Amino acid sequence: MLDVETIKKDFPMLNGKTMNDKPLVYLDNGATTFKPKQVIETVNHFYNDITSNIHRGDYEIAYKADVAYDHCRETIAKFINCEPKEVVFTSGASASLNMAAYSCGLCKLKKDDVILITEAEHASNVLPWFRVAEKTGAKVEYIPLTQEGRISIENFEAAMDERVRIVAVASVTNVLGYIAPVKQICEIAHKYGAIVVVDGAQSVPHMPTDVKEWDCDLLAFSGHKMIGPSGVGVLYGKYQILQEMEPMMLGGGANSRFDVCGNVLLKEAPFKFEAGTPNIEGVMGLDAAAQYLMNIGMANIAEYEKELHAYMTKELSKLDNVIVYNPNGDSGIVAFNVKDIFSQDAAGYLNSQGVAVRSGNHCAKILVNFLKVSDTIRASLYLYNTKADVDALIEALKTCTIENCIGTFF
Ligand code: ALA
Repeated sequence: MLDVETIKKDFPMLNGKTMNDKPLVYLDNGATTFKPKQVIETVNHFYNDITSNIHRGDYEIAYKADVAYDHCRETIAKFINCEPKEVVFTSGASASLNMAAYSCGLCKLKKDDVILITEAEHASNVLPWFRVAEKTGAKVEYIPLTQEGRISIENFEAAMDERVRIVAVASVTNVLGYIAPVKQICEIAHKYGAIVVVDGAQSVPHMPTDVKEWDCDLLAFSGHKMIGPSGVGVLYGKYQILQEMEPMMLGGGANSRFDVCGNVLLKEAPFKFEAGTPNIEGVMGLDAAAQYLMNIGMANIAEYEKELHAYMTKELSKLDNVIVYNPNGDSGIVAFNVKDIFSQDAAGYLNSQGVAVRSGNHCAKILVNFLKVSDTIRASLYLYNTKADVDALIEALKTCTIENCIGTFF
């Protein structure tokens, strides 16, 4: 069990903050997360004490920055169970998924090959594949979702055939919050020789991740959704696959040498993918974030969120004015609407009551075909939320009427 009251003390955003003169209740963790002082201090340490570029300087502070930066690759390797050389730092999950599409997809796909995704994917796991399909002549096809909106093994198996070269799915979807059977997907896809790309943006921060156990080929996630800084993320790749991929960006740090004739010798992975000065302080902050989460234990975090999610779903189901779209969700995400009220108006009213949620289509613009509703309110939990936060949401929803919504959105 988590000691949430102690955890909360680490997060400045959770200590005495208000919104619209009400105590701040933050339930938009699917969008981004608050940062603990350990992460803030790590980033500040870089700014205050060791600011320098990395892998270039022959002086003491640069050496200290090198050591701190390189340490993060080891921490992330522990965090997701891979080798440090399989960790590529990017600017976030979207950059990682674009890298997967352009650096892997463009090399591996040809006309009439198939990229298999689902209608529940976030834009960042759809649009790069559309583009790569257009460039290669490959096709994007969809794994049919179950009535509830999940990927079932049966549906996945039925959608697979030898034309499928890439399968790209979220391990937890960002609107319905369902956990995909990634291990089985990898097992089946690999029988056909397909590559599996996992969008881990909504799962890696919330539950244990073991890429060896999954046997996925590529995995993308962001720092800011796991109590780390914005502008930093990871693309994990099996080393052999990273070696076969062509970097989409070239520059300093990615090459060993080049000459006037245009001969270029790239560095080995992961460095060939990290051209230019990276987000050094972001990577250091990500290291602190992953260590913070590992100290608490990802299994403990997952169990706590599951319990809190069950409480939130149960309390929401008692409200006559609320429709929940994923009552059996298995992560900390609940998608719902207040009957007869546009989601953004309802979110505006919740804002006036101090409660932060996200409303709209949440970048999953083709999920609306499936849900048959154009937009929803999303409440998403994290390790520092409590039953009191859920109670505040429920109390605010009880008074969320059309009349009360008027004039509450900025
Ligand atoms: N991808 C983030 C979300 O789902 C921003 O809200």
